[in-house]
Amino acid sequence: MSLDQLMAWIPPGSPDLELARQIQPDRLPQHVAIIMDGNGRWAGKRHLPRVEGHRAGIQSVREVLETSARLGLKVLTLYAFSVENWKRPAAEVGTLMMLLKRYLRSELATLLENNIRFHVIGRPEGLAPDIRAELDDAACQTSGNSGLLFNIALNYGGRAEIVDAVRTAMTSGLAPADLDEESFARFLYTGGQPDPDLLIRTSGEMRVSNFLLWQIAYAEIYVTDTLWPDFRRRDLLEAIVAYQKRDRRYGGIAPPVAAGVK
Ligand code: IPE
Ligand code: IPE
Ligand code: MG
Repeated sequence: MSLDQLMAWIPPGSPDLELARQIQPDRLPQHVAIIMDGNGRWAGKRHLPRVEGHRAGIQSVREVLETSARLGLKVLTLYAFSVENWKRPAAEVGTLMMLLKRYLRSELATLLENNIRFHVIGRPEGLAPDIRAELDDAACQTSGNSGLLFNIALNYGGRAEIVDAVRTAMTSGLAPADLDEESFARFLYTGGQPDPDLLIRTSGEMRVSNFLLWQIAYAEIYVTDTLWPDFRRRDLLEAIVAYQKRDRRYGGIAPPVAAGVK
């Protein structure tokens, strides 16, 4: 997939085409991670129950996923349910799980068509057996795909992930002297994947809420006031255009600016 594939998919005359033209294909983020937030507020603004926001957010997931696959991103990680989200009312959690199950059933064909590999990060052992079976099935059926890697963070916590990685490292037989940042990262749920280059959070909150704590060490952070159910292809393209204007220094210094060039 490539920028051309994305452009071919955007209807002629759509303002998204102009936005897509601004994207530099050689400077795409490899990994985009999204904290999908604001479903409850979206519903509240419409005097609807919170769960209607979760339902509406599924269309945003579809559009972001297809845009990412067509654009040729390597990895997309969506934060769908945190270890802290169990604090919510049981009815809301139940509906979220039901929507997840329904989504997996209805979207499997789309994942296969778009050559997307589905992968769960988090503690799936804490989820109900029927949900796990659905997740395992989607991961298994898409395991041979070579396009976009779609990580869904479920029953996920960044601190829990680090603790789990330490446990695995301790039982792996790796000598303490051989433990360094690179070897440790292989024990994370995202082992072998590039770290997120771009972290997007919708709905304006300026916090990371226990998401990918290790991996976002040098991610560029983009926060938009748009609520998740309103987030569309255009919003993702805007985030990528903004990302490409950033100057990533990794603790070094900015490259010299050529004379006369701004
Ligand atoms: C994000 O939307 C979805 C999940 C955390 C599952 P919220 O449900 O957090 O919506 P707000 O933040 O209350 O608006
Ligand atoms: C973060 O959103 C978790 C997910 C998007 C799944 P929350 O709505 O749970 O985060 P807080 O409570 O605002 O930090
Ligand atoms: Mg929230």
